[in-house]
Parts: sequence; structure tokens; C-alpha cells
Amino acid sequence: MNIKNKVVVITGGASGIGAAVAIELAKLGAKIVLADMNEDGLNEKVDEIKNNGGQVIGIQTNVTKEEEVIKLMDTAIEKFGSINIVIPSAGIFRDAFMVNPDRETGKVFRSMSTSQFMDVINVNLLGTFLTLREASIRMIDNKCEGILFTISSINKEGQLGQLNYSSTKASVALWPKILSGEFHAKKVNGIRVVGIAPGYVETPILLGMKPEVLDSIIKDVTIGRLVKTKEIVGAIVFAITNEAVTGTTLEITGGVVSRGLVK
Ligand SMILES: NC(=O)c1ccc[n+]([C@@H]2O[C@H](COP(=O)([O-])OP(=O)(O)OC[C@H]3O[C@@H](n4cnc5c(N)ncnc54)[C@H](O)[C@@H]3O)[C@@H](O)[C@H]2O)c1
Repeated sequence: MNIKNKVVVITGGASGIGAAVAIELAKLGAKIVLADMNEDGLNEKVDEIKNNGGQVIGIQTNVTKEEEVIKLMDTAIEKFGSINIVIPSAGIFRDAFMVNPDRETGKVFRSMSTSQFMDVINVNLLGTFLTLREASIRMIDNKCEGILFTISSINKEGQLGQLNYSSTKASVALWPKILSGEFHAKKVNGIRVVGIAPGYVETPILLGMKPEVLDSIIKDVTIGRLVKTKEIVGAIVFAITNEAVTGTTLEITGGVVSRGLVK
């Protein structure tokens, strides 16, 4: 699929991967519908894209709120007449071990709270579901061809301290298989579904870590550095433009070694 003049809806577009994809796809001539909860960050990215000559609208959206996601997708259709590419990049983590027994007493003194668990499920899983469902309804009803993405993670393989986050990332890594199969079963042609599973990417969260923590992460990456956001953007552009890619999740990790295995 050609990118020029296609309508792209991106959530989590105020920062990191979502912002980088928006900027690049706008340069390639796509019309961008940018969504994020963070209004200031959103406005900043919208201005940046406009100043570079790109076509963009920003819509403040909390992806966990059904009515806000409906408004986002309705606005995309009203303003640009179509939805072709959907990138649900809004995501959070709230790391904690499920239970922490005290070394001396052996009794649990702290555990992952229900809100720590549910906040991550709500943004990463429910938010992705609402985004893809509401986009799909309008794509099918308006006969739009295109591609839905899910944003998974290397930690779909399982990560200590991320029972919540890894669960969401394992789930959305499976969705391309389920959804492309459902579309095929229902004779919905022309909508592909692709997952992107990044490794440790050069985004504000990682770059803001203490140098020793960052070093301990990088020592397990076989390419010896963090993945660049432009390398994630490159994988997304590849998936959009190569029509044989669907029903799968692409890993762009730099080869992360874990317990002797590359996961
Ligand atoms: N950065 C990495 O190394 C990495 C690795 C693997 C996967 N990922 C995944 O990529 C996606 C983007 O990550 P990032 O590093 O760019 O993160 P980021 O924190 O830079 O950006 C995430 C954006 O999502 C927005 N957001 C959070 N909750 C929201 C909500 N309820 N509604 C709307 N917007 C909301 C935030 O305001 C923020 O702008 C996430 O799903 C993350 O899990 C990132």
C-alpha cells in the first residue's frame, strides 16, 4: 500500500514511538490524526508536523474511554473521509513483583496493587481493543483498505516485575493472527493486521534511566545499543508497503539475550 494521502490514526502520539511514526508518515504524505491524553505534548507534536508542511489534526483522547475513542474515529472520518492505517501506541507500565516477602520475617510486606494491575490492562489492552474495534467498524462501513497494527514488546516473552505489562504485550502479539483470521472468515478484504514487538528503544523513558541501569540493559542486547525509534518506524513503513505482511508480529529488538537465549 502506498502511504501518500492515506489517513493514519495514531494513539500515544505525543511521545516516543507514536510521535516518531507520526512525523515520518507525515513526511511521506500521509494525513495524520494524532491522539494522546497529554494535551500539551499533543499540541507540540501537531505544531511540529504542521511546521514541516504535514497534514495533521490532534484530538485529545483517553484510549480507555469508549466515548472518546468513538469521537476520535468519527473525527478522522469527518475531517479526512477515511481511515487506512491505525497505530495504537498509547501504553504504560507499572512494574512491581506480585508479592514481596520480607527477608527476615518471611511475611509479605508489599504486593502489586489491583490498580497497578488494572491500569496497565486498561491502557494497553482495553485501549488497543477500543481503538482497533472502532477503527475497523468505520473502515469496513466506508470500504477503506488498510492496515491495523498492535504494539507489543520483547517482554511478551515474560519479564519479572511485569506480570501486568507482559500479559498485555503477549495478548496483543496474538491479535494479528486472530483478527486477520476473523476478517478472512467474514470476507473482509483489504484490511491487514500486523504486530510490532520492539526491544529496548531510545525513547524518553529509557534515555532518562540511570546510566548504570541503562548499561545493564544494553549488555544483553546483541547489537550493543538501544534500538532507534527510526528503526521501529522503518518496520512500520515496511509492513504498510509490503502487502504480503499480515497475521504476524515482527520483532525489532536488536537481539536481546535472556538466560542464554535470544528472546
Ligand atoms: N520504548 C520502548 O523501549 C518500548 C519497547 C517495547 C514496547 N513499547 C511500547 O510502545 C508503545 C509506545 O511506547 P513509548 O516508549 O513510545 O512510550 P511513551 O511513554 O514515550 O509514549 C506513550 C504515550 O502514550 C500516552 N498515553 C498513556 N496513557 C494514555 C491513555 N490512557 N490514553 C491516551 N494516551 C495515553 C502518553 O501520554 C504518552 O504520550 C507502548 O505501548 C509501549 O509499551 C515501547
